[in-house]
Amino acid sequence: MAMPRTSATLLLALAALVALSVACNNVPSMSIYEACDKACSKVWQPKVWLCQTTLMAAKVAPTAEVTVYTVAAANAAIKSYKSSMAIIDRLLENPWLPPGEKTAYDVCKDRYGKALEYMTGVTNQMSICAFAYPRMELFECTYFVGNCGDYLKDYKSSPLFDANAADQNNTFVAYYLGGLIVGK
Ligand SMILES: *[C@@H]1O[C@H](CO)[C@@H](O)[C@H](O)[C@H]1NC(C)=O
Repeated sequence: MAMPRTSATLLLALAALVALSVACNNVPSMSIYEACDKACSKVWQPKVWLCQTTLMAAKVAPTAEVTVYTVAAANAAIKSYKSSMAIIDRLLENPWLPPGEKTAYDVCKDRYGKALEYMTGVTNQMSICAFAYPRMELFECTYFVGNCGDYLKDYKSSPLFDANAADQNNTFVAYYLGGLIVGK
């Protein structure tokens, strides 16, 4: 059936609008404060502040669909994973690393590779309102980034230690905000 020209144009305009704002059925819109409260208040007040800081740094709209916030937090996590991966590569260039420390960085390199893949999946899928995988992917990211952290316990003075702590924070924010949509 041929569609009248005007409604086709309207549909195109609507599609563009949807792509811009990620409008998903059944996903609520709220303010940054409300989203961070709902996502993190049962956890620990500092996590609520962490969530707010992350979203404000990402320059998201003060009121938006929770998908928008989750994607923004996931993008922040991706950025911080990439910077940690660069740190790992630089550290692994040192031929004199003690074996235990080298193992820790090798493990972390592997874990970050997986976390990056999963977090990228989260942004790609949430951007098109696909919610079948993000729950598992977000959970896996907390596991992989945390597992790298476990290997770094004896290397607290390593630059990767602090970077990983920041990554764990970013992962946490994405995981908890995503949890508002897909559960934890
Ligand atoms: C991680 O977040 C906590 C608040 O939950 C904060 O106290 C800590 O400084 C953060 N760590 C890093 C490395 O950003």
